[in-house]
Amino acid sequence: MMTKEDYQKEYGTHQKMRDHVRQDQYRLQYHLMPPAGYLNDPNGLCQKDGIYHIYFQYTPFDCGWGTKLWGHYTTKDMIHFQEEEPFLYPDTKMDKDGVYSGSAFVKDNLIHYFYTGNVKLYDRNDYDYINEGREQNTIHMTSQDGYHISQKELILTNDDYPQDMSKHVRDPKIFEKDGYYYMAIGGRTRDNQGCVLLYKSDDLQHFKYYNRLILPNFGYMWECPDLFELDGQLFLMTCPQGLVQQGYNYANVYQMGYFKVNYDFQQNTYTLSEFHELDRGFDIYAPQSFLDEKGRRIQYAWMGIPDADYDNQPTIDYDWQHALTMPKVLTYHDGQIYQQPMEEMKALREKTIVSHCHQIKQEDTICFEMNIELEENKDFHLKIRDDAHLTYQNHILTLSLGQSGHGRATRSIEINEVYQMTIFSDTSSLEIFINDGQTVFTTRVYSESLHQTVEFLTSIKGKVTYYPLKPYVITK
Ligand code: FRU
Repeated sequence: MMTKEDYQKEYGTHQKMRDHVRQDQYRLQYHLMPPAGYLNDPNGLCQKDGIYHIYFQYTPFDCGWGTKLWGHYTTKDMIHFQEEEPFLYPDTKMDKDGVYSGSAFVKDNLIHYFYTGNVKLYDRNDYDYINEGREQNTIHMTSQDGYHISQKELILTNDDYPQDMSKHVRDPKIFEKDGYYYMAIGGRTRDNQGCVLLYKSDDLQHFKYYNRLILPNFGYMWECPDLFELDGQLFLMTCPQGLVQQGYNYANVYQMGYFKVNYDFQQNTYTLSEFHELDRGFDIYAPQSFLDEKGRRIQYAWMGIPDADYDNQPTIDYDWQHALTMPKVLTYHDGQIYQQPMEEMKALREKTIVSHCHQIKQEDTICFEMNIELEENKDFHLKIRDDAHLTYQNHILTLSLGQSGHGRATRSIEINEVYQMTIFSDTSSLEIFINDGQTVFTTRVYSESLHQTVEFLTSIKGKVTYYPLKPYVITK
């Protein structure tokens, strides 16, 4: 439990932590981070009256896993951000062990929020973390403005989930279709099958069990589902846990990716395509998307992952951990989802330097965007910084990190041709978009030298456009 008053009282005693955070050279320049402490999933993403609300799982006084609040940033232009007071606290009986992940849905000038109230009944004899001793309450509330909320209202409890579910059911997200609202909730059955439960409503208040999306033997738990349409195609984005690595696929401890869903809502039947990993980097999880007022489907994800065997010790040493990815626009074409940086990011460009692959100029800032258009389809070796390399050999594209990876070694994808790359480099992160966003590698990296040293170690013909980037402006 942490009420607003508890938070405010404790806040005063953590000034040292915040001073410490400010001294860290690895603080990111153009990504959203916890002001101090720990951040994980993006939550409640929406835009209302021109203002983007970006909430996130937040442990303000500890940079490891702890009691979750919802932190809150707002922005009008994706460049100037306001750090707001935490938005949600675990301050009731139904969410006392954490206001877990959830989402927002804007309808008729009102923001509806749905999240999971986490309750752990440790003192019960049968508490076993998975099947017994937990409440996973689906809670609804509304807001006119994204700052002030109505009373929290309990709309689904353990009793409303199918009998064969374990006590891992969470992360509600709304999808609207033909006048009905479908709530997707991630889950794990008692016999360890990952799935997504669907509930249906016609008023965003009363939800009835509708169906479950499942692919037998595809992981034991699916977290953070996101159901949405792009260009008429329905997608389920989710994070399966428990997949076994297959070649270069499923290399992280948990996955993030999507199924194409062919849903017949008349018959209530569906088929799922094969699973497609959205990102090939080390630090990516818990994505969430929303439609902004321009009609773009924008996605943030957590630039981190739980339970990995690599770490972020350099930032933990300064009392903070993790960040959100850049916001990306999702589109669907050529049979798959493409990811592109929001065009608002262009406003961060300080200047434009055009050159060729064989003569990339050394500039002094490590915070940059670099656009590379390759004119020949051949193997290459690109040094990105210190011991971070991207190599393309026999149709395998590999990101490899040395010491700077803090345990992150290599991630690869098989790809027929690489004709374009956009590298977003921040003090301690890389987001590398391949072939106009056909795939992305997202990773944290802790280079000793924070200078730009991009260099092709093999000769290849191509054009390079380099943009040093200005930092976000974040006020409190
Ligand atoms: C995913 C997740 C969610 C949960 C939240 C708790 O990273 O485990 O399933 O709601 O984080 O912080």
